[in-house]
Amino acid sequence: MTTLPANVHLIDHPLVQHKLTLMRKKEASTNTFRRLLGEISSLMAYEVTRDMPMQDVQIETPLETMTARVIDGKKLVFVSILRAGNGILEGMLNVVPGARVGHVGLYRDPKTLTAVEYYFKMPQDMQERDIVIVDPMLATGNSAIAAVERLKELNPKSIKFVCLLTCPEGIAALHRAHPDVPIYTAAIDRQLNEHGYILPGLGDAGDRIFGTK
Ligand code: URA
Repeated sequence: MTTLPANVHLIDHPLVQHKLTLMRKKEASTNTFRRLLGEISSLMAYEVTRDMPMQDVQIETPLETMTARVIDGKKLVFVSILRAGNGILEGMLNVVPGARVGHVGLYRDPKTLTAVEYYFKMPQDMQERDIVIVDPMLATGNSAIAAVERLKELNPKSIKFVCLLTCPEGIAALHRAHPDVPIYTAAIDRQLNEHGYILPGLGDAGDRIFGTK
Protein backbone atom coordinates (compact mmCIF):
# COMPACT_ATOMS: atom_id res chain seq x y z
CA MET A 1 0.00 0.00 0.00
CA THR A 2 1.71 3.21 -1.17
CA THR A 3 -0.69 5.93 0.06
CA LEU A 4 -2.01 5.56 3.55
CA PRO A 5 -5.80 5.43 3.93
CA ALA A 6 -7.38 8.36 5.79
CA ASN A 7 -7.11 8.30 9.57
CA VAL A 8 -4.45 5.56 9.59
CA HIS A 9 -1.10 6.16 11.32
CA LEU A 10 1.68 3.80 10.24
CA ILE A 11 4.39 3.68 12.88
CA ASP A 12 7.29 3.14 10.57
CA HIS A 13 10.13 3.72 13.03
CA PRO A 14 13.21 1.51 12.36
CA LEU A 15 13.16 0.08 15.90
CA VAL A 16 9.51 -0.91 15.55
CA GLN A 17 10.05 -2.44 12.11
CA HIS A 18 13.15 -4.37 13.20
CA LYS A 19 11.42 -5.84 16.24
CA LEU A 20 8.32 -6.68 14.21
CA THR A 21 10.43 -8.64 11.70
CA LEU A 22 11.91 -10.68 14.55
CA MET A 23 8.43 -11.37 15.93
CA ARG A 24 7.08 -12.57 12.59
CA LYS A 25 9.65 -15.36 12.29
CA LYS A 26 8.05 -18.71 12.98
CA GLU A 27 11.00 -19.77 15.12
CA ALA A 28 10.60 -16.83 17.56
CA SER A 29 9.99 -18.34 21.01
CA THR A 30 7.04 -17.36 23.21
CA ASN A 31 9.42 -15.51 25.46
CA THR A 32 10.98 -13.55 22.57
CA PHE A 33 7.61 -12.85 20.95
CA ARG A 34 6.10 -11.51 24.17
CA ARG A 35 9.15 -9.38 25.01
CA LEU A 36 9.28 -7.85 21.53
CA LEU A 37 5.55 -7.12 21.55
CA GLY A 38 6.00 -5.31 24.87
CA GLU A 39 8.91 -3.28 23.50
CA ILE A 40 7.07 -2.33 20.31
CA SER A 41 3.99 -1.37 22.32
CA SER A 42 6.01 1.00 24.48
CA LEU A 43 7.39 2.61 21.33
CA MET A 44 3.91 2.85 19.80
CA ALA A 45 2.57 4.45 23.00
CA TYR A 46 4.90 7.35 22.26
CA GLU A 47 3.08 8.08 18.96
CA VAL A 48 -0.40 7.34 20.25
CA THR A 49 -0.06 9.79 23.16
CA ARG A 50 1.58 12.52 21.05
CA ASP A 51 -1.52 14.76 21.14
CA MET A 52 -2.30 14.36 24.85
CA PRO A 53 -3.22 17.74 26.38
CA MET A 54 -0.65 19.37 28.67
CA GLN A 55 -0.95 21.86 31.50
CA ASP A 56 1.48 24.22 33.23
CA VAL A 57 2.43 23.63 36.86
CA GLN A 58 4.75 25.47 39.23
CA ILE A 59 7.61 23.32 40.54
CA GLU A 60 10.83 23.92 42.42
CA THR A 61 14.12 22.66 41.07
CA PRO A 62 17.05 22.62 43.52
CA LEU A 63 17.93 26.09 42.13
CA GLU A 64 14.69 27.98 41.47
CA THR A 65 10.95 27.90 40.93
CA MET A 66 9.82 27.29 37.37
CA THR A 67 6.70 26.73 35.30
CA ALA A 68 6.88 23.27 33.77
CA ARG A 69 4.52 21.11 31.75
CA VAL A 70 2.74 17.92 32.78
CA ILE A 71 0.04 15.84 31.14
CA ASP A 72 -3.36 17.41 31.80
CA GLY A 73 -5.62 15.15 33.82
CA LYS A 74 -5.40 11.42 34.35
CA LYS A 75 -8.17 10.42 32.06
CA LEU A 76 -6.53 8.00 29.67
CA VAL A 77 -7.92 4.48 29.62
CA PHE A 78 -6.42 1.54 27.74
CA VAL A 79 -9.04 -0.98 26.72
CA SER A 80 -7.62 -4.41 26.00
CA ILE A 81 -9.53 -6.77 23.75
CA LEU A 82 -8.96 -10.12 25.46
CA ARG A 83 -6.87 -11.99 25.36
CA ALA A 84 -4.22 -10.91 22.85
CA GLY A 85 -4.75 -7.22 23.70
CA ASN A 86 -3.02 -7.85 27.02
CA GLY A 87 0.24 -8.36 25.11
CA ILE A 88 0.11 -4.71 23.99
CA LEU A 89 -1.36 -3.43 27.24
CA GLU A 90 1.73 -4.24 29.31
CA GLY A 91 4.05 -2.31 27.01
CA MET A 92 1.71 0.69 27.01
CA LEU A 93 1.44 0.67 30.81
CA ASN A 94 5.23 0.66 31.09
CA VAL A 95 5.28 4.19 29.69
CA VAL A 96 1.86 5.41 30.94
CA PRO A 97 1.70 3.71 34.35
CA GLY A 98 -1.10 5.97 35.64
CA ALA A 99 -3.60 5.01 32.94
CA ARG A 100 -6.78 3.17 33.82
CA VAL A 101 -7.52 -0.16 32.17
CA GLY A 102 -10.70 -1.69 30.80
CA HIS A 103 -11.20 -5.17 29.32
CA VAL A 104 -13.52 -6.39 26.60
CA GLY A 105 -13.85 -10.14 26.13
CA LEU A 106 -14.80 -11.08 22.59
CA TYR A 107 -14.30 -14.35 20.82
CA ARG A 108 -14.51 -15.02 17.12
CA ASP A 109 -17.22 -17.46 16.18
CA PRO A 110 -15.11 -19.86 14.09
CA LYS A 111 -17.89 -20.37 11.52
CA THR A 112 -19.19 -16.83 11.01
CA LEU A 113 -16.02 -14.98 12.21
CA THR A 114 -18.36 -12.54 14.01
CA ALA A 115 -17.50 -11.21 17.48
CA VAL A 116 -19.37 -12.53 20.51
CA GLU A 117 -19.03 -10.58 23.80
CA TYR A 118 -18.43 -12.53 27.04
CA TYR A 119 -16.85 -9.86 29.28
CA PHE A 120 -16.99 -6.06 29.61
CA LYS A 121 -15.47 -4.18 32.54
CA MET A 122 -14.60 -0.46 32.41
CA PRO A 123 -13.44 2.19 34.89
CA GLN A 124 -15.92 4.84 36.11
CA ASP A 125 -16.47 8.20 34.37
CA MET A 126 -15.96 6.89 30.85
CA GLN A 127 -17.58 10.04 29.44
CA GLU A 128 -14.54 12.01 30.69
CA ARG A 129 -11.96 9.64 29.27
CA ASP A 130 -9.86 9.26 26.15
CA ILE A 131 -9.87 5.60 25.14
CA VAL A 132 -7.06 3.70 23.45
CA ILE A 133 -8.25 0.24 22.38
CA VAL A 134 -5.46 -2.30 22.01
CA ASP A 135 -5.51 -5.54 20.02
CA PRO A 136 -2.48 -6.86 18.12
CA MET A 137 -4.31 -7.94 14.94
CA LEU A 138 -6.91 -5.87 13.06
CA ALA A 139 -7.99 -8.65 10.68
CA THR A 140 -11.69 -8.97 9.76
CA GLY A 141 -12.37 -5.94 11.96
CA ASN A 142 -15.33 -7.67 13.61
CA SER A 143 -13.95 -7.54 17.17
CA ALA A 144 -12.73 -3.98 16.74
CA ILE A 145 -16.12 -2.84 15.41
CA ALA A 146 -17.98 -4.58 18.23
CA ALA A 147 -15.64 -3.09 20.86
CA VAL A 148 -15.93 0.45 19.44
CA GLU A 149 -19.74 0.16 19.22
CA ARG A 150 -19.96 -0.97 22.83
CA LEU A 151 -17.58 1.77 24.04
CA LYS A 152 -19.37 4.52 22.11
CA GLU A 153 -22.48 3.74 24.19
CA LEU A 154 -20.49 5.15 27.16
CA ASN A 155 -19.90 8.51 25.39
CA PRO A 156 -16.13 8.76 25.86
CA LYS A 157 -14.25 11.92 24.83
CA SER A 158 -12.33 10.07 22.13
CA ILE A 159 -11.43 6.59 20.87
CA LYS A 160 -8.22 5.45 19.14
CA PHE A 161 -7.45 1.92 17.97
CA VAL A 162 -3.94 0.48 18.23
CA CYS A 163 -2.81 -2.75 16.62
CA LEU A 164 0.49 -4.27 15.67
CA LEU A 165 -0.60 -5.54 12.27
CA THR A 166 -3.53 -4.98 9.97
CA CYS A 167 -4.50 -5.48 6.32
CA PRO A 168 -6.55 -3.48 3.78
CA GLU A 169 -9.71 -5.49 4.61
CA GLY A 170 -9.42 -4.77 8.35
CA ILE A 171 -8.89 -1.06 7.85
CA ALA A 172 -11.78 -0.83 5.38
CA ALA A 173 -14.15 -2.71 7.69
CA LEU A 174 -13.36 -0.67 10.81
CA HIS A 175 -13.48 2.62 8.93
CA ARG A 176 -16.70 1.72 7.13
CA ALA A 177 -18.31 1.31 10.56
CA HIS A 178 -16.31 3.95 12.49
CA PRO A 179 -14.48 6.40 10.21
CA ASP A 180 -13.88 8.70 13.19
CA VAL A 181 -11.62 6.20 14.99
CA PRO A 182 -7.93 6.62 14.09
CA ILE A 183 -5.99 3.41 13.55
CA TYR A 184 -2.37 3.17 14.71
CA THR A 185 -0.44 0.21 13.32
CA ALA A 186 3.13 -0.95 12.79
CA ALA A 187 2.34 -2.60 9.44
CA ILE A 188 -0.34 -3.05 6.80
CA ASP A 189 0.07 -6.54 5.38
CA ARG A 190 -1.06 -7.82 1.99
CA GLN A 191 -4.41 -9.49 2.67
CA LEU A 192 -6.78 -11.50 4.80
CA ASN A 193 -7.15 -15.21 4.05
CA GLU A 194 -10.43 -17.17 4.05
CA HIS A 195 -9.92 -18.15 7.71
CA GLY A 196 -9.62 -14.53 8.84
CA TYR A 197 -5.82 -14.61 9.19
CA ILE A 198 -3.55 -11.82 8.01
CA LEU A 199 -0.98 -12.72 5.29
CA PRO A 200 1.96 -12.82 5.58
CA GLY A 201 1.17 -11.90 9.19
CA LEU A 202 2.63 -13.67 12.18
CA GLY A 203 0.10 -16.40 12.90
CA ASP A 204 -2.22 -16.41 15.89
CA ALA A 205 -1.08 -13.55 18.11
CA GLY A 206 -2.79 -14.89 21.25
CA ASP A 207 -1.21 -18.33 20.86
CA ARG A 208 2.19 -16.81 20.23
CA ILE A 209 1.97 -14.45 23.23
CA PHE A 210 0.76 -17.09 25.67
CA GLY A 211 2.40 -20.21 24.22
CA THR A 212 -0.92 -21.96 23.61
CA LYS A 213 -2.05 -23.79 20.51
N1 URA B 1 -5.86 -12.89 14.75
C1 URA B 1 -4.61 -13.39 14.82
O1 URA B 1 -4.13 -13.73 15.89
N2 URA B 1 -3.89 -13.51 13.69
C2 URA B 1 -4.35 -13.15 12.48
O2 URA B 1 -3.64 -13.27 11.49
C3 URA B 1 -5.67 -12.63 12.42
C4 URA B 1 -6.40 -12.51 13.58
